[in-house]
Amino acid sequence: MHVPVLLQSTIELLQVKKGDKVMDVTLGLAGHARELAKQLGKTGLLIGLDADASLLAKAKENLRGVSCETIFINTNFRNIKLALDEVGVAEVDKVLFDLGLNSEHFDSSGRGFTFQKDEPLLMTLIANPNENTLTAREIVNTWAEESLADIIYGYGEERLSRRIARAIVEARQKKPIETTLDLVEVIKGAMPTGRLHGKTHFATKTFQALRITVNDEIGALKEGLAGAWQKLSHGGRVAAISFHSLEARTVKNFFKEKVASGEGRLINKKAIGPSREEELANPRSRSAQLRVIEKI
Ligand SMILES: C[S@@+](CC[C@H](N)C(=O)[O-])C[C@H]1O[C@@H](n2cnc3c(N)ncnc32)[C@H](O)[C@@H]1O
Repeated sequence: MHVPVLLQSTIELLQVKKGDKVMDVTLGLAGHARELAKQLGKTGLLIGLDADASLLAKAKENLRGVSCETIFINTNFRNIKLALDEVGVAEVDKVLFDLGLNSEHFDSSGRGFTFQKDEPLLMTLIANPNENTLTAREIVNTWAEESLADIIYGYGEERLSRRIARAIVEARQKKPIETTLDLVEVIKGAMPTGRLHGKTHFATKTFQALRITVNDEIGALKEGLAGAWQKLSHGGRVAAISFHSLEARTVKNFFKEKVASGEGRLINKKAIGPSREEELANPRSRSAQLRVIEKI
């Protein structure tokens, strides 16, 4: 089950008022959105975006019965401006980015986000990928060794990136790497014994790097933040919950620029993390950081 992270702090710091227009650009299963909808009352508008059509359909179900108006849009949040223009919404008052994946992606999407099960190596947020959709399978089977090493190092912060890239290229010369467990075996072969029994699974960083690359997560985040800012009303707020250091840095830098240019003020000077209780109840919250900015 997906438990919304930093829910209370997000609600408090976004300060949603009755009649606001609120956009949740990472709707997921609408855990945050349900709470936001409660604050909006009958006169408010909730716009929910998700790149994954199958989650959007479930979110709609989970939001049944809320009193505010709702609009659902299946798109990447890098297209915020276009998406809002298409539905005729000129400005929004609050925007939430709860980044990364939903628990459903790991548990039941069947798209290869997890190394706990043998699944096709897709790793895309798109629910029904076609032949034009970039997948992890394409990356590991066709990209040059140096490019593989660069993404595994840059997006996975994996020190053994070169060894892993080499092992991938050697393995694919024998047969294509098709599934998550094929890839786990290859990574395993590149690991020193110490890493095989470490606290974090030895494939975690490589899987993270591939997922970030497939979905161009950092590029999308930069464009998404810029789009949200463009569409934000004066006095409006953007909240972003990040889960790894590259996301955190991207959000921090964007907010810093807005403060430096006199367009924004930080609502919380230091990022907010989970309480000890939340960490214990929901291990996924462990690395979460919430940052909120107001447009002035
Ligand atoms: C952590 S989950 C959100 C969970 C949600 N707040 C809840 O409480 O149920 C992140 C969601 O954002 C979506 N997502 C991630 N990157 C996206 C992007 N660039 N554009 C649109 N949706 C994205 C994922 O499909 C996923 O459903």
